[in-house]
Amino acid sequence: MELTGKVAIVTGGASGLGKAFSQVLLKNECKVCVADLNQQEGEKTIQELKKAFGEKNVLFVMCDVSNEKDLEKVFNETVKTFGHVDILVNNAGIGGESRWKEVISVDLVCEFIFDICPNFRIFLIRDKIFGFTGLLL
Ligand SMILES: NC(=O)c1ccc[n+]([C@@H]2O[C@H](COP(=O)([O-])OP(=O)(O)OC[C@H]3O[C@@H](n4cnc5c(N)ncnc54)[C@H](O)[C@@H]3O)[C@@H](O)[C@H]2O)c1
Repeated sequence: MELTGKVAIVTGGASGLGKAFSQVLLKNECKVCVADLNQQEGEKTIQELKKAFGEKNVLFVMCDVSNEKDLEKVFNETVKTFGHVDILVNNAGIGGESRWKEVISVDLVCEFIFDICPNFRIFLIRDKIFGFTGLLL
């Protein structure tokens, strides 16, 4: 898939695998919205990414992916800044037996992100019309 000019949202993008996904997408000339619960780490990561890949190519939105309103905020901020959404990397996740309720709301519920935040469907419909298939990872 040609990635140049595509717009991606990476949940849990402030650290770990999400940060690595963001770097790879930016290297391939995508614009990236890093969406993460950890504001401090998020701000630090986007400063790093802006320095490496350009001020205008990265955005940070603080968000809890288990919160419907936060997901809408991420979608709206990304469209406002970059004009559209082509790729969603649904990466944010947690582990730990003692936090099992939180684990279910973050790891399991977000598998149904299109139902939780129907706005994300829009990019698939748009992309069907314009001949590019949106990507959910
Ligand atoms: N690293 C592995 O070996 C491995 C193996 C299997 C699956 N996974 C899955 O891959 C994903 C990333 O793993 P990782 O090792 O990079 O994890 P990590 O803990 O290093 O990073 C997770 C990121 O998600 C963010 N996050 C946590 N809860 C959030 C929430 N509710 N809303 C928004 N952001 C939130 C954290 O702040 C953090 O920046 C997770 O879903 C994990 O379960 C990882």
